[in-house]
Amino acid sequence: MAGPSLHGLLGRPAGTLAGFAFSPALRHSGIVWDEAVLDRFLADPRRAVPGNRMAFPGVRRAEDRRALIDFLKQSTK
Ligand code: HEM
Repeated sequence: MAGPSLHGLLGRPAGTLAGFAFSPALRHSGIVWDEAVLDRFLADPRRAVPGNRMAFPGVRRAEDRRALIDFLKQSTK
């Protein structure tokens, strides 16, 4: 897979999952994933964490991000 496993994501500091080679940008972002910071990141990943390597343009609509974050809360527990 291109991206890291998101299992256990909420509450984890960004870029710290063992076994995945994260960018320095994400590792040094100071982010701890919660719903608010995920919402900002998923709206515009490039702007939220400049220099990160996630090839994903983001989700523009707030309702779509809400649905995605609800899904992630359930599926990454
Ligand atoms: C709805 C779609 C997506 C969601 C919700 C999502 C979510 C995330 C999150 C939360 C992280 C940070 C993980 C952490 O800090 O442990 C991450 C990193 C990453 N994702 Fe995604 N992602 C999505 C789509 C994609 C796609 C389409 C790709 C590639 C084709 C991708 C590739 C990556 C990569 C390479 C990283 C590490 C970035 C870095 O080290 O700078 N993701 N993703």
